[in-house]
Amino acid sequence: MLNTVFFVSGKGSNLKSCYEKFPKDKIRICAVVSNKKCGAVQFAVQNEIPVFLVSSENQTGFFNYEELIRQLKKIPAELIVLAGFLKLIPDNFVDEFESRIINIHPALLPSFGGEGMYGMNVHKAVFDSSAKISGATVHFVDKIYDHGKIIAQKSVDISNVGGPEEIAERVLDIEHELLPFVIQKFAEKKIVINHNRVLIAE
Ligand code: GRF
Repeated sequence: MLNTVFFVSGKGSNLKSCYEKFPKDKIRICAVVSNKKCGAVQFAVQNEIPVFLVSSENQTGFFNYEELIRQLKKIPAELIVLAGFLKLIPDNFVDEFESRIINIHPALLPSFGGEGMYGMNVHKAVFDSSAKISGATVHFVDKIYDHGKIIAQKSVDISNVGGPEEIAERVLDIEHELLPFVIQKFAEKKIVINHNRVLIAE
């Protein structure tokens, strides 16, 4: 059984798609973490998944990251999945869960990534660039936005789109396939880091 914890800040479509696709006897969503009450948190509550609200400031009712690390280690969390989480993960948290934090980004990194590149900002930049393909990337999280080793990518044709919204729709469909695929490969212990590249064993 792979114990996963999802970090979210948005509607939760990636959380929902993983929840529906995961083989229940192999992968468990043990908790959901967010910086705010959002659609993804509502989904977690409706499905009786424990929720932790986290803040770097001392907000009432929120965990700080040191407390959150202690809570997640009790589970124990084996894979941390950032699925639309909009805050930079603090360095001490990255160190605690070295090579066990992944993120899904709605573009083909290393292009169209980095601070401020989230949601429609990404798709507008892709549209304005005249690119003919976009896609999704799942990568390891390190201490720089969208910078860790790439685990998997999947592209989609956007040569005929009329605007960034269409790109967003096509990329989100790709995300809903790619993220559960990668997490299942973690559960099967088929993700291998080889120097600066990541291999997915058959
Ligand atoms: C997705 O587009 C994801 O790539 C990005 O944030 C969005 C989250 O959407 N990191 P949702 O909350 O999973 O619907």
